[in-house]
Amino acid sequence: MTRGVAGELRHYLGPTSYSLAESRALLASAGELKKSPLRTDLAGKTVGLIFFNPSLRTRSSMTVGAFQLGGQALTLDVGVGTWKLEHRDNWVMDGDAAEHIKDAARVLSRYVDILAIRAFPERRGWGEDRLDPIIKAFARWSEVPVINLESSLYHPCQSLADLMTIEERLGSATGQPLVITWAYHPKPLPMAVPNSILLEAAKFGMDVRLAHPEGWELDDEVMTEAARLAEGAGGKLTVHHDLEAALPGARVVYAKSWGSIRYYRDPDEEARLKAPLRQRWRVGSHHLAQGDDAVFMHCLPVRRGVVVDDDVLDGPRNAAYDEAENRLHVQKALMLQLLSENAK
Ligand code: CP
Repeated sequence: MTRGVAGELRHYLGPTSYSLAESRALLASAGELKKSPLRTDLAGKTVGLIFFNPSLRTRSSMTVGAFQLGGQALTLDVGVGTWKLEHRDNWVMDGDAAEHIKDAARVLSRYVDILAIRAFPERRGWGEDRLDPIIKAFARWSEVPVINLESSLYHPCQSLADLMTIEERLGSATGQPLVITWAYHPKPLPMAVPNSILLEAAKFGMDVRLAHPEGWELDDEVMTEAARLAEGAGGKLTVHHDLEAALPGARVVYAKSWGSIRYYRDPDEEARLKAPLRQRWRVGSHHLAQGDDAVFMHCLPVRRGVVVDDDVLDGPRNAAYDEAENRLHVQKALMLQLLSENAK
């Protein structure tokens, strides 16, 4: 599929890479693939999976997905059995990294038909991380389509699977009240998941209620974009610093912890400030009961007894395993769509 200039290719880098109509088409295709999983469209093709960070669901679902479409996956763990990679332009590479993404992406493009990348933030600073430099370097230099498997800013395969799950449970997502709540976690986790469900749900015109303690605001530009999408889709976006205030009538309670941008370079101070929030910002069945037959969602992995109570995860309102399964179906739909569009 070599096109010469990587910029001509269609990639899937974030929730706004695809319009609402295109996302709806992917969900329709994913629904068909859920009913009839086996195809031969990827016969003779290889999907390259590049992991800078660990994974259970993403690695498994992409590998199984490629196989079920008749192809195969090639998985590389960066720095483990392969070279450490540099992404900075015009960088004198006298540190740990032995190879530049510019070279790795061009070479891998000669072997594989899609490149899918997981690269969490490097935490040198939010100003740098929010630019998503690693995934963007792959998109710039790859000669095959690139899929974001979670970057600093976005986890768009997750949010697409989330919308599939919401529509399976509720019918149409449009207008439905969704609470996205921060939860306590001992580590300052990435913001890719809350950013992505926020944008995807806004795009689908949901009544999005974002709940978090003061000091854990999401990125300003993401919030502005979510408000623009919500307005365009006839939805709503409200922010609450009290979880209880966001819950009345909620159909979905989506829990996720994330680190504070304000204390990005000072995790010890963040840990000190969030310690008293531990009990109040853990999701329990009493929270679901304040909604309207609300389901619980989480991208997983999740810390039981820290982020959410056991009885929620082990109970009938838990949709997290459906979200995990739906990763398989939406990613297969995405691989088929990207190969089809980029072959034109
Ligand atoms: N939700 C998700 O991406 O899970 P993994 O980190 O296990 O891939």
